Amino acid sequence: MAPEYAMLFEPLTVRGVRLRNRIVCPPMVTNRNIVGDDGIEWYRRIAEGGVGLVIVEATRTARFEEELKAENLSGLVEAVKGEGAAVAIQLFMSPVDGRNSPDSLSRDDIALSLERFCKSAAICKAAGFDGVEPHGAHGFLLNQFFSKRANHRADEYGGNLEGRMRLGLEVVRAVRSEVGEDMLILYRHTPKEPGGYTLEESLEFAWRLAGAGVDVLDISPASEKAPGDLAEPFRRIGIPAIAVGQMARHERAVEALREGRADLVAIGRGLIADPFWASKTREGRLDEIVQCRYCNEGCFGNLRAGKPIECAQYGRM
Ligand SMILES: Cc1cc2nc3c(=O)[nH]c(=O)nc-3n(C[C@H](O)[C@H](O)[C@H](O)COP(=O)(O)O)c2cc1C
Repeated sequence: MAPEYAMLFEPLTVRGVRLRNRIVCPPMVTNRNIVGDDGIEWYRRIAEGGVGLVIVEATRTARFEEELKAENLSGLVEAVKGEGAAVAIQLFMSPVDGRNSPDSLSRDDIALSLERFCKSAAICKAAGFDGVEPHGAHGFLLNQFFSKRANHRADEYGGNLEGRMRLGLEVVRAVRSEVGEDMLILYRHTPKEPGGYTLEESLEFAWRLAGAGVDVLDISPASEKAPGDLAEPFRRIGIPAIAVGQMARHERAVEALREGRADLVAIGRGLIADPFWASKTREGRLDEIVQCRYCNEGCFGNLRAGKPIECAQYGRM
């Protein structure tokens, strides 16, 4: 391995969970059945390819009420762990009877949503996952509660920063008390919102999330002018931060770690193009890596079309 890549392969232990290196597969909706052969094989291959942590795609909390159970999720967990990677799953706040905005949810709906996060996390723990990640990013429902633009509630779940932080913090506290001390909680958060909340507000939120039980901050998007630059301020909090954004370009991943902007780097589309990016890098086989061209066809294109994601360059992996 080239010496400049060594820092990508330093292990990291968080809350007793050992990650064999700094490379993360971020959550990506695959449009595959995560408890079926196809979905399990997708994630197994990514783990086989050498990443340290796999975060399974955004999964609606309501799905854990019926179809997703510890018994059928454990196959996925075993497949990933069997290849030496740690495994977490992203929990996506479900709408309640179609109500899908902060302003439309009643207080009972919020209570139900919290209960769903707890139940999902308990099932994930029983299935053997190392961690869960509430999806608090990208303008989806949980993130909307933090958003000045989307949240116009007049009660304690809206209004000032304290109010807009409340649901995210309650989710984390509830999940922590449900799963106990021996499970990772990651939190995906978007650091700023155009015309809305600021980076300073996000930093305050991150402090409070860490106090509520979050172990890892997954910042997305994390790269604006330089790789990982939007994750860097969050390192002050004192818990590991993940940076994402075209990190399959080796020089970007190395720069993010070397410049101390992040503790971990996530490679999304790059792993769809080549799930073996990490092991090929470690073994110095860079010329064998199928490099993502960021054309967004087979990944985001298929995602939008409701088709299983794949790389447009090479079809199914
Ligand atoms: C097909 C696809 C599905 C995605 N699904 C999710 C998701 O479920 N949850 C999430 O937080 N981000 C999701 N993302 C965003 C990725 O996690 C990642 O942040 C993004 O692709 C940028 O990283 P990259 O430049 O390495 O691809 C998705 C991205 C892609 C391409």
